[in-house]
Amino acid sequence: MNDLIKNARKAIKPNWTDLYTIKTDRKLKKDEPQAFIQPKTGQLIDLKKTFENINQKTLSEAIGSRRSTREYSDQNLSFEELSYVLWETCRVDHIDQGRVYKTIPTAGATNSGETYVYIHRVEGIDSGIYLYVQNQHQLALIEKADDLENRVNEALLKQLRNANMVVFFTHVLPRVEYKYAHIGPKLACLEAGHACQNLSLVSEVIDSGVCAIAAYHQEKVDQLLQINGEDHFTLYCATLGKKK
Ligand SMILES: Cc1cc2nc3c(=O)[nH]c(=O)nc-3n(C[C@H](O)[C@H](O)[C@H](O)COP(=O)(O)O)c2cc1C
Repeated sequence: MNDLIKNARKAIKPNWTDLYTIKTDRKLKKDEPQAFIQPKTGQLIDLKKTFENINQKTLSEAIGSRRSTREYSDQNLSFEELSYVLWETCRVDHIDQGRVYKTIPTAGATNSGETYVYIHRVEGIDSGIYLYVQNQHQLALIEKADDLENRVNEALLKQLRNANMVVFFTHVLPRVEYKYAHIGPKLACLEAGHACQNLSLVSEVIDSGVCAIAAYHQEKVDQLLQINGEDHFTLYCATLGKKK
């Protein structure tokens, strides 16, 4: 087995008991990292919080019909559907004594995850890259540009495939490393998996399909989202589109 594989395996099987002796930033009482990314723009778009037009399915139906979907119809996603998908996938439910509780479990409620979206074809909202402001259920515009579609497709290694939207699961590592030190990166990966699974199941409710994407160009995606790629970077992406 080559060293590259050996080291990669080692990184995802850390000894939990090392944490008993390691002086984490938390034990050292250092300042805690900010809980949320602050949107740079003043223009925030309120998403819907009620979903009158969405015909619910049972959990069994959603799980039963889920398949990776790589071909999408030309139908637009509605603003309500976009709102619904983000609401169920990754919203903050509540904050208790500084701990953040979301629709997905997060390691020790440290919530290292942030969500960004590329809106491609959604009624009532301009195409662009947006930050999902998870504690306010709003979108903050990052960038609108004519060549965005091409750049997103390149960053996804040509896997945009007529999707209505793309969801990017990014992680701010210091938030989870503050408490869990070197185990943090593994925990962040697991958390991104939870989020993508929620996305896959809620997309079934709106007759849409998701394709999880791990094969993306790391630098290009991080640049697209205007995140630094060092302590904040993308871990997982997913295209979402109406089923044919
Ligand atoms: C971690 C992970 C990464 C994936 N990355 C990609 C990807 O980059 N491109 C792609 O087309 N499918 C990707 N997939 C989808 C898998 O190919 C798909 O789940 C698999 O073929 C099984 O099909 P199913 O999802 O319909 O059960 C990924 C799935 C997982 C779980």
